[in-house]
Amino acid sequence: MIKLDHVTKCFGSLTAVDDLCLEIGEGEIFGFIGPNGAGKSTTMKILACLLRPDSGTASIDGRNVLSDGNRIRRMIGYMPDFLGVYDDLRVDEYLHFFAAAFGIPRKKRKSLIDSVLELTDLTEKRKAMVDSLSRGMQQRLGVARVLIHEPRVLLLDEPASGLDPRARIEMRSLLTELGRMGKVLMVSSHILSELSQMCTSIGIIERGKLLYSGSIEDAYARTATGERIQIVLESFDGAPDPAVFAERVRSDARVMNVSCEGRAVDVELSEGAQGHHFLIEHAVQSGQRIASFTPCKVELEDAFLKLTKGAVQ
Ligand SMILES: Nc1ncnc2c1ncn2[C@@H]1O[C@H](COP(=O)(O)OP(=O)(O)OP(=O)(O)O)[C@@H](O)[C@H]1O
Ligand SMILES: [Mg+2]
Repeated sequence: MIKLDHVTKCFGSLTAVDDLCLEIGEGEIFGFIGPNGAGKSTTMKILACLLRPDSGTASIDGRNVLSDGNRIRRMIGYMPDFLGVYDDLRVDEYLHFFAAAFGIPRKKRKSLIDSVLELTDLTEKRKAMVDSLSRGMQQRLGVARVLIHEPRVLLLDEPASGLDPRARIEMRSLLTELGRMGKVLMVSSHILSELSQMCTSIGIIERGKLLYSGSIEDAYARTATGERIQIVLESFDGAPDPAVFAERVRSDARVMNVSCEGRAVDVELSEGAQGHHFLIEHAVQSGQRIASFTPCKVELEDAFLKLTKGAVQ
């Protein structure tokens, strides 16, 4: 549905997007992840027909952004990173304005606006002034606006930026709902954990280059480190020194790394280590009592850092 084929875009001497190849298929919610200045917005603007690539081809549903801009604009909903809202409009007037701009006949506008307001949970705010809405509501209005012409493809540039945790969760469920409705979504963010719960696939971009694209599970697998376990040792009269336990664990071949701070001991197991019960045996044999024993999942952030450090095979 969305295809980038060796797309490059430079601003002066800076290569913002560097030989980028990417495909996003029907039914996908694609998370586009990268740090500031990575080239996410530039890529999305190329797909939205707002910037011309210097070389390579970008297309949506087989149509080239350079030659078929008008068709593509009707097929996509593009939400920029900074949403311009007009001061003197009410929510419904704002949506009427964009519906008119898309050439939707007056008779159809009202029912369409009703349905996007309902979907974005803004029905009660339809008569509110746009600039009086909270940031979260304005972001939802931004989504309502890009839905008004019923596009099949949504390009959403950081829709959750600046939102509080509750508003983020609401935005996430809205986007999941849009995915369920069969829309193809490309959503950018630097907040990885946010995307991990709703995306079917992700792409990681840094300095214009795509470092990874594929499923989240695969991203984890490629960055697989051994399992990590945090053990907190109980403090009691005559408790032995945790460093002795840490040393004992460190010398076990099934362990890759150990760090010890106070009574908390972090253990990283070697890849392929089977189970972690042996740590409990080491503790008992060192005369320690265990206050807590917590296996930690590798976080997406860790995977991301590894991938952007060039750890991709
Ligand atoms: N119109 C422009 N003129 C000159 N340089 C630009 C322009 N737009 C973007 N750039 C540069 O291109 C690079 C990529 O920018 P882009 O906005 O695509 O990054 P981004 O991944 O969206 O970052 P952010 O997370 O901060 O939004 C940056 O170095 C930026 O300074
Ligand atoms: Mg950006």
